[in-house]
Amino acid sequence: MLFILSIGGSILAKELKPESFMAYAAALKELSSEHDIVVITGGGAAARDYINVARCTGSNEVECDYIGIDITRLNAKLLISALGDAAYNGVPHDYREAEKALNSGKIVVMGGVIPGQTTDAVGAILTEYLNAKMFVIATAVDGVYSADPREDPNAVKYDTMTPAELVKTVITTEMKAGSKSPVDPLAAKIIERCDFETIVMDGSNPQNVLNVVMQEANNTERENVVYLGTRIISKKI
Ligand code: UTP
Repeated sequence: MLFILSIGGSILAKELKPESFMAYAAALKELSSEHDIVVITGGGAAARDYINVARCTGSNEVECDYIGIDITRLNAKLLISALGDAAYNGVPHDYREAEKALNSGKIVVMGGVIPGQTTDAVGAILTEYLNAKMFVIATAVDGVYSADPREDPNAVKYDTMTPAELVKTVITTEMKAGSKSPVDPLAAKIIERCDFETIVMDGSNPQNVLNVVMQEANNTERENVVYLGTRIISKKI
C-alpha cells in the first residue's frame, strides 16, 4: 500500500539535530518493509528565518517561496542521508519525477515544488496523483483546531471533520511565504476536490506516526482504528 507522509520542518528540523532525522529514518525503514512511502519534508523555522531575511532585503513573495522550497529540499536531503540505502538517491523536483522515483522500490523523499503553496499541498496533490491509500500530515500540533490553540485558549480540536469543514476552518489563513497553519488552504481545497482520507497528527514521536499508518493499512473497519489527531473523512470509504 502506498502512503504519502508530510513531515513538518517544525518536527524534523526543529533544532536541526541528527537525532530527529535518525529517529524518523528508523520508523520509515520499518514502514517501508511493508509499504511504499513518499515523504515530503517541510522547511520549519529555518525556512521562516530565511524568508524573513529575504523579505526584509527586498525579495517579493514568489522569491521568498523559492527560498522556502530550497530549505524544504535541504531537509529532504538530510532525511535521505539518514535513510541511507533505503532511500531513493535524489530529491524529485515535481510529481512526475516522484512517480518515476517510486519505481526504484525505495523510500522517496522530496520537498516543495512550486511557489504559492506549502509542502501540505505537495502531499495532497501526490496522494491523488499516485492513488495513495491515504495522506498523513505529521506536524507540530495534534490536529486541526477551530482556532490557533497557541493563541486562543477556547480553541476546540476536531477528532473528525469533512473536507468542506476543513476548508472552512483554514481558508482564512494568510497565504504568504512562510505562513503557519496545520493544513494550508490550497491543500485543504485539494483534499476537498479529490476526497481522500487524511490524518493530521502530532509528529513529534515518529513511532506514533508509524503506528497510525500501520493501523490504517491493516484495518478495513474504521471503527477499530485508534486515532491520534484529526481525521478528515472521505465520502468514498
Ligand atoms: P513548508 O511546507 O515547510 O511550510 O514550506 P510550513 O507551513 O512552514 O510547514 P512546517 O513549519 O515545516 O510545518 C515552507 C515555505 O516554502 C514555500 C512556502 O513559502 C512555504 O511557506 N513553499 C513550500 C512553496 O512555495 N512551495 C512548495 O511547494 C513548498
